Amino acid sequence: MPVLLRIDSSAGGADSRSRRITDELAGAWLARGEEFSVVARDLNASPPPHLGDTAQHWPERLRGGAVLDAGTAALQGELIAELLAADAVVIGAPMYNYTFPSTLKAWLDFVHVPGVTAPFDEPTQPLAGRPAVIVSARGATDDDGAFEHVFAPLRLALGDGLGMDVHVVSTSRTLADAVPDLDAALAAEELARALDRVRELGASLPAT
Ligand SMILES: Cc1cc2nc3c(=O)[nH]c(=O)nc-3n(C[C@H](O)[C@H](O)[C@H](O)COP(=O)(O)O)c2cc1C
Repeated sequence: MPVLLRIDSSAGGADSRSRRITDELAGAWLARGEEFSVVARDLNASPPPHLGDTAQHWPERLRGGAVLDAGTAALQGELIAELLAADAVVIGAPMYNYTFPSTLKAWLDFVHVPGVTAPFDEPTQPLAGRPAVIVSARGATDDDGAFEHVFAPLRLALGDGLGMDVHVVSTSRTLADAVPDLDAALAAEELARALDRVRELGASLPAT
C-alpha cells in the first residue's frame, strides 16, 4: 500500500499557503487509487522537543555508553519508523526569519541519525532514492534568493545525508493582500504554478 508522509510546519491556520500546497499534493496522491494513503504529521500542532542530549544524534552502539532517556528514544523510534514506512514524503517548510521553522529542525534532529538513516562507519542509507518534496512559502518576493536558505540545508540533510530524491516547490509574495507593492496578481500566478507542479508530482512520484 503506497504511503505518502505529509509533514506540515506552518504556524498559520487555514490561510497557510504551504499547507494548501502540501494538501494539493496529498490529494493527487490519493487520487491514484484506493490503495494509496497519507499519514499526516503536524509539527506545529505537536512539536518535537528541541535537542537536549547529543546522544540523540547517534545509535546506541555509537553513543560511547551515554544513555538516551526513554521518552526521547521512544519518540525517535516512532519518527524514524514513520519516515521509513513512507514511499514518498512532502514537507511544508514556510520561511520564518529567512529559514525553515524550528519545529522542522527539531524533527530533522530526530531523524537524521548517522549509522541509522545516514552513512557513518557504514554506507547506511535506507531511504536512498525515495522522493521528498519540500514546499516553501514566503511573504516577500524572492528577489534576494533567500528561499535557498530554506532549501539548501534540507537538500543537504535529506538529499546528501539520507540519499532521498529531493524536489522543491515554492510560492512567494504571500503577503500581497497586505502589501500592494507585492502584486496580488503575481502572487496568485505563483501559487497556481506551485499547485500545478505538486499535482504533477503527486500523480507521478514513484510508489514502491
Ligand atoms: C515568524 C515569521 C517570520 C517570517 N519571516 C519571513 C521572512 O524572513 N521572509 C519572508 O519573506 N517572509 C517571512 N514571513 C512571512 C511568511 O513567510 C509567510 O506568511 C508565508 O506565507 C508563511 O507560510 P504559510 O503561508 O505556509 O504559513 C514570516 C512570517 C512569520 C510568522
